[in-house]
Amino acid sequence: MTYTSAWQSPSNIALVKYWGKHGIQLPRNPSLSFTLSACRTEMKMEVSLNAGTPGVTVYYDGKPKPAFEPKINSFFQRLDDRFPWLKSASVFIDSINTFPHGAGIASSASALSAMALCLSDIHELIEQKQQETNQPWLQDVSLLARLGSGSASRSVFPVAAIWGHSPGIAGSSDDYAIPWQDNIASVFHDYQDTILIVSASEKSVSSTLGHSMMNDLAYAATRYELAGKNILSLVEIMRSGKDLDAFISVCESEALQLHALMMSGANPFILMEPNTIAIIKKIWQFRNETKIPVCFTLDAGPNVHLLYPKIYQQDIQTWINAELTKFCADGVYISDHVGSGPSRI
Ligand code: DP6
Repeated sequence: MTYTSAWQSPSNIALVKYWGKHGIQLPRNPSLSFTLSACRTEMKMEVSLNAGTPGVTVYYDGKPKPAFEPKINSFFQRLDDRFPWLKSASVFIDSINTFPHGAGIASSASALSAMALCLSDIHELIEQKQQETNQPWLQDVSLLARLGSGSASRSVFPVAAIWGHSPGIAGSSDDYAIPWQDNIASVFHDYQDTILIVSASEKSVSSTLGHSMMNDLAYAATRYELAGKNILSLVEIMRSGKDLDAFISVCESEALQLHALMMSGANPFILMEPNTIAIIKKIWQFRNETKIPVCFTLDAGPNVHLLYPKIYQQDIQTWINAELTKFCADGVYISDHVGSGPSRI
């Protein structure tokens, strides 16, 4: 018997960063992210039960991609208890990312959340239950996605999500993300994120290694405490939506802190490039001169996410073309915005 499912699931960009984990994919501090729209994975999964040759076969854009298989196999091993059929099944996965391949954009959040959605769907089919998309179901998918990649837990919800327990945030949990769209002002519901591609090359240090380096870092405890405070400030700032200067302050401080942590270990590393810094300085200058509330955040890489309210789209576009594309690899940037979360395809 063969079961199929197909989902598209977006990437997300953290404003308060998850950096440091313990146990089985549990975060050291709570994080808050915007769910994106243009950057997403479209995935199709086929599961044949009691197949002669159990195991996973992974394709990307219609072509074999065995390099992805070890990460997926270790994800599947963590799901043995939940999906006992997985062990003896033959699983075929084919996916594409809508963002340019090799643009230096991490695809683990979108890909692993899409995989958790497909697996949960197929589980329902096997159990002959109704296919769901309600809140408890998505919460459970978020937990499963977390076991694949921490940040993937946040991608299953539209607009914004919080993952990780905070004593000040009711319902927050280390096990799964919770939806946050109903708790933020309207200005944030269509916030823009233009991703300036500074370098398209593969990351020199994986997130997994980066997280593990936090274990020996002298500043770690202070960082987790600060992240806990930052998320509470941001929750309040985003609830009212009135103080974009305060929003900017938290976002930029979080972004630079993430990179400062990378530079502070016994084996320090730098993921920013000279053009990352050049763009940050341009943002500060432009904001000073125009008073337009545009700010940046950074992922674990050199690319710069420009965050701004939709009403400034035209001004920002003109400025990007005039002053920022020269710092981008081949002039490439991706126009993204806060989005409505995953959906079946
Ligand atoms: C800097 O979720 O990629 O993007 O759980 O090991 O898969 P794993 O790590 P990952 O780490 C994301 C780190 C970050 C910050 C964030 O998204 O919160």
